[in-house]
Amino acid sequence: MPRTPDDVHWADYNAAQQGREVRPLCREVMELAGPGAGRQAVDLGCGLGLETRALLRAGWRVHAVDGEPGTGDRVLTTTRGCDRSRLTVEVRRFADLAALPPADLVYAGYSLPFADPGDFGRLWAVVRGSLRPGGWFAANLFGDRDAWAGTMHGTFLALSEVRQHLDGLQIVELHEEDGPGSSYRGPKHWHAFHVIARRPETPFSDTSP
Ligand SMILES: C[S@@+](CC[C@H](N)C(=O)[O-])C[C@H]1O[C@@H](n2cnc3c(N)ncnc32)[C@H](O)[C@@H]1O
Repeated sequence: MPRTPDDVHWADYNAAQQGREVRPLCREVMELAGPGAGRQAVDLGCGLGLETRALLRAGWRVHAVDGEPGTGDRVLTTTRGCDRSRLTVEVRRFADLAALPPADLVYAGYSLPFADPGDFGRLWAVVRGSLRPGGWFAANLFGDRDAWAGTMHGTFLALSEVRQHLDGLQIVELHEEDGPGSSYRGPKHWHAFHVIARRPETPFSDTSP
C-alpha cells in the first residue's frame, strides 16, 4: 500500500513516543476498572502500543487497533516479553472499522479526534456498541476552541456535544482542559476533554447521535 503524508506523519509521531510514561488517563481507568485477568480491553488508535503493553502487563486481553501501516510490527516490538497470547492487533482506518470485540474497557488515547467529522457518529456508535455492561471507556477528545480546530482535519466537539455523546453512560470523569500547553508540533492552545465513563450494568437505551 502506498504511504500517504498522514502515514509518514504518524510514523514520526509514534517513533517519538519511545520511552514515555503510560498516559495518566490510561493509568486512571485501569485503576478504576480493577484486575484485567480474564477481561477484554481495546486500545483504539494504539500508536506505538505503550498503553497496550501496560494493559497486557496488568493481565488484560488486548485488541490493539490503529490505521497506520506497520502497526503490527511496532506493537509486537513494544510488547516483547509480554504474554502475547492475549494480544490481537488490527490495522484498520477508523472509516473502515465496522465492529470491535465485546470489551470491558475501551481506551482511546488522543485518537478519536482524528476521525473524519462525517464519520465520527458512526465510529462512536461502534465504540459504544462494543462496551459490555459495566464496561469502562476512556478517551481524550478535542474541543472546538483547540488551536488545531480549523487547521487540521478532524473532529472538534463542544462540551454539549461531548455530553450528548455520553448520554446513557455514567460519566465518571469529564475534565475540560482549556489553556496553553505543548504538543509534538510545538506550543499550542489546548482545548480537550478527558473522559472516563462507564456503561451501566443494567440495560440502557442508546440515544446518542
Ligand atoms: C496522537 S496519536 C495517539 C497514539 C497513542 N494512543 C498515544 O497516545 O500515543 C493518534 C493515533 O491515531 C492513529 N490514527 C489517526 N487517524 C486515524 C484513522 N483515521 N484511523 C485509524 N487510526 C488513526 C494514528 O496512526 C496514531 O497512532
